[in-house]
Amino acid sequence: MKYKIFADKNLVVGAISENIYGSFLEHLGRAIYGGIYEPDHPSADGNGFRKDVLSLIKELGVSVVRYPGGNFVSGYDWKDGIGNVAERKTRLDLGWKSIETNEFGTDEFIKWCKAAGTQPMLAFNMGTGTPMDALEYFEYCNHPSGTYFSDLRRKNASEKPYNVKYWCIGNEMDGPWQTCSMDAESYGKKAMQTARMIRAADCRAAGEDGAVKLTVCGSSNREMPSYPEWDRVVLENTYDEIDFLSMHRYYEYDPEGKKPLEDFFCSADDMNEFIDVIRSTIKFVKEKKRSKRNIYISFDEWNIWKQNKLDVTPFWRKAPPILEDVYTLRDALVFGGLMNTLLNNCDVVKVACLAQLVNVIAPIMCEKGGISYRQTIFYTFAFASKNARGETLKTITACDRIEGGNRDADSLNVCVTHNREKREVCVFACNYAGEDRDTTIELRSFGKLKCARFVMMNGEDISLTNTAAEPERVVPREASPVEVYDEGKADLTLKKHSWNFIKFTY
Ligand code: AHR
Repeated sequence: MKYKIFADKNLVVGAISENIYGSFLEHLGRAIYGGIYEPDHPSADGNGFRKDVLSLIKELGVSVVRYPGGNFVSGYDWKDGIGNVAERKTRLDLGWKSIETNEFGTDEFIKWCKAAGTQPMLAFNMGTGTPMDALEYFEYCNHPSGTYFSDLRRKNASEKPYNVKYWCIGNEMDGPWQTCSMDAESYGKKAMQTARMIRAADCRAAGEDGAVKLTVCGSSNREMPSYPEWDRVVLENTYDEIDFLSMHRYYEYDPEGKKPLEDFFCSADDMNEFIDVIRSTIKFVKEKKRSKRNIYISFDEWNIWKQNKLDVTPFWRKAPPILEDVYTLRDALVFGGLMNTLLNNCDVVKVACLAQLVNVIAPIMCEKGGISYRQTIFYTFAFASKNARGETLKTITACDRIEGGNRDADSLNVCVTHNREKREVCVFACNYAGEDRDTTIELRSFGKLKCARFVMMNGEDISLTNTAAEPERVVPREASPVEVYDEGKADLTLKKHSWNFIKFTY
């Protein structure tokens, strides 16, 4: 069957927020220690930050980084991570059954964000932590001076406040794996009280110019028995005080389980449905509250993660090499579809964090004392971050369906973006069919178009990966730009099992 892709410059989904290109660094495995921070690495700067990793992160194009967790945050005392490093306490991390030395904490993270050219998104502990702990953390980071915690920051690290704009009120508080998880009503009330205290300290109401942005925990995934009721209850408790509801979702290829390859290729479709449900839940609560404010989605954990292979034993090691998933070309194809789905919902998804960033289910891998390199998923993210700017257009496609064991979806997954300033139209297309497909792209509303680039990632063996020994086995390839006829139509072939990027200019 011939594929068709149609988009019109007047049919706009919404503006793409630059924070859709966020990521996540948790005190987990070798993400911090042996990842971004390795003082005795040959490329480390005076702060112990690996410069080779910093440079890959800049190339990836990450706008905001969530920290310090994740499951870790629900048992974390932020006060353990400040002050004289030699006096910091080593503690048990219950989230990952690891040892936390606290050598790296908030002051180091803020410094690292500056070096990486990104902004922080900090999380409050809503497990063992209280609303008062959250207030004190906020005071330490954002209050200028003249109070105990702001003066402590001035003494420890920085005369100026950090002015952290994005704050998460806890992490996955519905999950029984979370330290001190709770029911929706209890969490909703605690989150609302915490939010009110932060708003008071910030001296601005929700939505006011310059006010901090607060995110509450939505369901930690679509399989939770409490989903989507959890989201409704949390929103009803917090709607007037917050800005975002969080969503988390990981996908996996499970050939040994009951999920065939076709199911994995339906992942983007599942993500789209999940977003639809949460979008409707937000609308429902807005209407019920007769509110004028809009709450948006912070999809602050998304990726591919082989959770069936998760093993954190033996326990109580420092920075153990856990969750070090190696990504295949097959993963990059699905990842491309997930990225497209976030962009296709950019009217409601205003923040998203690829989970995670370095070594732990990550686009960037590091060898201790050695090289750092790009995993397959690095490229699909970097191309979007660099090129999918401006607005997303509504796309109409013609294609066939792929049928999985548990669900079915379009075999063609597409996103079309328009950057008015740069006069660019970008098409991101995944062909999940096991055959090459002739395709017509029709973009006539733009007038005379020229194809500037055609890049693809594909290959006969979709299980190929990049490794430290062969870091560039799976990389995107430049193809010849395609010819544009009738002022806006182009014919091309989307190779079987491929991710494609086509850029037009006008
Ligand atoms: O990203 C890994 C873990 O996945 C996070 O710590 C947690 O929030 C989620 O369950």
